[in-house]
Amino acid sequence: MTRELEGKVGLVTGGTSGIGRHTALLFAKAGAKVVVAGRREAEGQETIELIRAEGGDSLFVKTDVSKGSEVDALIQKTVEKFGRLDIAFNNAGTEGAWVPIVRQSEEDWDRTIAINLKGVWLCLKYEIRRMIKQGGGGAIVNMASVTGLIGSVGAGAYSASKHGVIGLTKTAALENAKSGIRINAVCPGVIETPMGERLFGAPAVCKSVVGLHPVGRLGRPAEIAEAVLWMCSDRASFMTGQSLVLDGGFLAGPHSAG
Ligand SMILES: NC(=O)c1ccc[n+]([C@@H]2O[C@H](COP(=O)([O-])OP(=O)(O)OC[C@H]3O[C@@H](n4cnc5c(N)ncnc54)[C@H](O)[C@@H]3O)[C@@H](O)[C@H]2O)c1
Repeated sequence: MTRELEGKVGLVTGGTSGIGRHTALLFAKAGAKVVVAGRREAEGQETIELIRAEGGDSLFVKTDVSKGSEVDALIQKTVEKFGRLDIAFNNAGTEGAWVPIVRQSEEDWDRTIAINLKGVWLCLKYEIRRMIKQGGGGAIVNMASVTGLIGSVGAGAYSASKHGVIGLTKTAALENAKSGIRINAVCPGVIETPMGERLFGAPAVCKSVVGLHPVGRLGRPAEIAEAVLWMCSDRASFMTGQSLVLDGGFLAGPHSAG
């Protein structure tokens, strides 16, 4: 593949598994030095070893994205190690408890919003500050979901958090367009990851969820990583404030499960 990110420094939150890990590996293959952030030390080390095995340069920083002091420290450590920050994928997220609103606890609401929405806001705040400090320019992709564009039964907090990410992306893009910092979001359908497995892994549920995707299968993490790489590359130089849907046709219109 072309090393179009050569000389750039990238950051991926939630890079300890799933879509985040795939994207961190792809950024490295494209030539970027990659900082992997997440809460799980062992899985984070695994990701950076996978990157190093391919000849890439990487650092793991244990981070809870819902805590401002930790996100601030993450950006500082990124700059201490690699000197700058050019691209970021704010991907860390939780599904929370998928239960009807009337049964959802206040604690679960707060935690889901704190990770999925406040976490993206905190990352934007410290990433953009750094990009401006180094003279502007850069690209950021926030993780939303098709559930950021439509409702989904049982997903009150999750859906609200992902709708929020899409709104935040637009405002962040407007505020930073003149600084040359492009900010977009990605909205996947259901993807084969640990989260997808936790939510939809039961055989009967899986069959009906596959049926929501007209292509007849779930998405793969690598398919999301490819789009994120493109959005972070100079090939997407006129794109900002957008939310790119990658969903196997899920949102294209009413369709039958067949
Ligand atoms: N899998 C899907 O079907 C799907 C669809 C649309 C959107 N998404 C979104 O994609 C993102 C990645 O999810 P995934 O499917 O790869 O599942 P995953 O569970 O493998 O990945 C989520 C990652 O986020 C990390 N994380 C969770 N809370 C964190 C916190 N407070 N601080 C730092 N890291 C934290 C987890 O440790 C994990 O590495 C999530 O934001 C999710 O909402 C997933």
